[in-house]
Amino acid sequence: MKPLHKKMIRLAIQRPRIIQTLLRLAYRQKIGAGFDRWRRNGKSSMPCEVKIHLTRRCNLSCTMCNQHRHSKDTDQHIPWCNPDNELPIDVWKNFLDQMASWSSTGYRPWLDISGGEPTIYPHFKEFINHARKHKFFINLLTNGTTLEKNVSFLIDQAVDAVTISIDGPEKHHDSIRGMQGLFKRVEKGIQALREEREQRNSLTPIISLTCTISQANLAVQEQMIPIAEELGVDSIVFNNTTFQSQETVTSHNRILNKELAERENLQIILPSIPEGGYYKSEIRKDDLPNLVQSINTLNAMEKKSPLRVAFAPFSMKSSLLKPYYLDMSYPFPNICDFLWKSIRIHPDGTVSPCLGFMAGNIRNKTVKEIWNGAAYCKFRSLVAKKIFPGCVRCCQRRYTEKVKLGISNQD
Ligand SMILES: C[S@@+](CC[C@H](N)C(=O)[O-])C[C@H]1O[C@@H](n2cnc3c(N)ncnc32)[C@H](O)[C@@H]1O
Ligand code: SF4
Ligand code: SF4
Repeated sequence: MKPLHKKMIRLAIQRPRIIQTLLRLAYRQKIGAGFDRWRRNGKSSMPCEVKIHLTRRCNLSCTMCNQHRHSKDTDQHIPWCNPDNELPIDVWKNFLDQMASWSSTGYRPWLDISGGEPTIYPHFKEFINHARKHKFFINLLTNGTTLEKNVSFLIDQAVDAVTISIDGPEKHHDSIRGMQGLFKRVEKGIQALREEREQRNSLTPIISLTCTISQANLAVQEQMIPIAEELGVDSIVFNNTTFQSQETVTSHNRILNKELAERENLQIILPSIPEGGYYKSEIRKDDLPNLVQSINTLNAMEKKSPLRVAFAPFSMKSSLLKPYYLDMSYPFPNICDFLWKSIRIHPDGTVSPCLGFMAGNIRNKTVKEIWNGAAYCKFRSLVAKKIFPGCVRCCQRRYTEKVKLGISNQD
């Protein structure tokens, strides 16, 4: 058993309600979401995961990231791209109150707090404090730039997990993320967090690294497990990029267009995938043998490492990397669980899972009204029949050869 798994057992003893949260996540992922998609005509049970984007602003501009491709000037029509629209803290607090009282059993969904860079949202600490008052389980995703100064706060609040992005050894990380000295800064933050966690004899936060795989760090993937071990973190995830091609975007925007939006009475920001607002993978045919070899080596290293090592999306096998990166028509299962299991709230309060679809706004509707409202049910029904071309390399799909569990959408 890995040290992280032992720690999870101790954490479950300390905070037993986490068991319900984790079990429901697993259940919704494997069975519940598929059942709702199949039987419930667009309706869905309460989300088991809440993805919160406190801000779209960021202090970095990483090569592979879509976030910094959007701005107030270029995407004026996308309400959450305008920092002036960021929610006041009272709206977020009200939202957390609603989420906390949704289930009568005291159940809490998992909160993933992300951005942009969430820690630069002016009311970041108040948000975390309110969420912890309600005993939500929290994973904070951060680029680590502000980690050192937040160490005591994160431990005081007993934030459950902190996931820090590191895309390679020093030179590669600084270059991909466009900031000299960044690796050293993040390293200092992680050391401080780990040391204070030990001094205060705290189990949390569980510290994870995420390394997003791109052309620029392909040759150095194998150095990441030793780096993570040296940093003393609990786990590392190797994250394959999500991306689009010009063809998928053109074909997508032709299908999810004004006529469809009007016919189905859906509010969609058009074009659904904006030109210049997406990432095109740089992994080419010649890169594949190296990538496959790296992943196989990492898998072998994992067996000897004390760390938990995982691969995203959904533990994709190395044999499927070739079609994932090079064959956009490969018949991966046409399944989306996301709309049935997770809710995503943007910085302006818009509830939008993806593709520019707007289900409502938490400024003027309750989250329950939005979650099973007419618009969300309609959009779910469309996706249940057939996913869109723009779903092609979404991180929420399963990249497996066969569907083991869950009910496939029609082809
Ligand atoms: C969008 S960032 C937001 C949180 C924070 N700013 C950070 O960098 O960790 C969340 C994660 O998405 C990853 N990411 C960025 N672009 C991606 C892409 N095209 N495909 C998959 N993951 C990506 C980042 O590396 C980061 O780990
Ligand atoms: S730090 Fe995070 S949000 Fe900012 S550009 Fe990089 S990956 Fe994107
Ligand atoms: S982009 Fe497609 S696959 Fe991804 S969450 Fe949206 S509907 Fe699901």
